[in-house]
Amino acid sequence: MPGISKLLNPFGAIKQRIIPVYLGVDIGTASIKITEVEQGERLPRLSNYCILEDKSSLLRANTAIQTSSLKLFEDEVVELLSGAIAEMKPKTTEAIASLPVFSSFTAIINFPEMSKDELEKSISFGIKQYIPMPLSEVAIDWMKVGEYKDEKGLPFQQVLLISVPQEQIRKYQRIFEDAGLHLNALEIESLSLVRAAAGTDPTPSFIIDIGSRSTAIVIAEGGNVRFSGQSDFGGSSLTQALSSGLNINPLRAEELKKEKGVDATGPNYELSTIMIPFLDAIINEVKRVEFNYKSQNPSAKKMERAVISGGGANLPGIERYFESRLGIPSVKAAPFLKLEYPPSIEPLVKELNPLLSVSLGLGLREFV
Ligand SMILES: Nc1ncnc2c1ncn2[C@@H]1O[C@H](COP(=O)(O)OP(=O)(O)OP(=O)(O)O)[C@@H](O)[C@H]1O
Ligand SMILES: [Mg+2]
Repeated sequence: MPGISKLLNPFGAIKQRIIPVYLGVDIGTASIKITEVEQGERLPRLSNYCILEDKSSLLRANTAIQTSSLKLFEDEVVELLSGAIAEMKPKTTEAIASLPVFSSFTAIINFPEMSKDELEKSISFGIKQYIPMPLSEVAIDWMKVGEYKDEKGLPFQQVLLISVPQEQIRKYQRIFEDAGLHLNALEIESLSLVRAAAGTDPTPSFIIDIGSRSTAIVIAEGGNVRFSGQSDFGGSSLTQALSSGLNINPLRAEELKKEKGVDATGPNYELSTIMIPFLDAIINEVKRVEFNYKSQNPSAKKMERAVISGGGANLPGIERYFESRLGIPSVKAAPFLKLEYPPSIEPLVKELNPLLSVSLGLGLREFV
């Protein structure tokens, strides 16, 4: 069965040796982030990056670069992407892009232990019931993500099934082509997030990517996606709450949010009380994802930490707040630990770490 990336480029493995530089392109709801990753001396090396934020989306509450019905905004994305590329002047046009959680459909399916060939056959026979669209209209990919023994001691394997509407893939191909780039591969955001934020660490972890319009929640273990979910609350929910709660302009609310952050006890407590219900909504969704994961996975282990990513991870005080509510250590994503980079950006790394997680996860794809 063809995988998504293979569908797009059957020669990916050969190309990699010829063009060892890739652009990781993360098209979010309020920003486009591009990183250029090449082989460094010991580790992959970040040689260039660009973050293009769409500040106007703060003022136009109902618009976003990326929406679930992206059609209207295709031209705008092409324009922004071309602009970013013109500014960045990258060494390559080979791009790897991510698909947001809402544009794909994933399921974890349990199969008895069997050979890879047999598994492939069983998947093609059995997938119809898991995919909410006609099979002819979707691209399908799958990967083994775990194994366990049932109560009788029989071995089972767990497969992550990913399906993406063909129309969505064609749209990305058009966008990249129009922006002068070659789309080498597409992958779902949760895979890039796990690569960047957890690597192959065996610790059962939540990866919580707080973007502008939504939050992606992934359960990762040993480098695999074990489960995923989403909350419709994100960074802009906090800004909007401050803006209407304090009756101030959204741009001012955005500044205030970044400056003061959340603080459940200190002098900014008043301000925090406006934002906390939205953080709690995200945390409740994290708990719901955990509950669903545990009820569907007999082999589920106890979650041991939370890695917070996305622009929302830069909210001052967020790690402490998540730690107190989830009862497990909570840290900011640190994908730069996996990279070499120019010393000149060292002062920015702390802030860039969570912001560039998805984009760096994509850029790292061919190197790790
Ligand atoms: N220092 C900061 N403190 C608090 N929030 C911040 C900070 N920096 C960025 N943000 C918030 O992060 C959000 C943007 O995050 P990000 O760039 O990850 O979103 P996106 O990828 O464009 O959106 P999505 O992933 O939802 O499509 C905005 O809501 C912004 O206000
Ligand atoms: Mg994002």
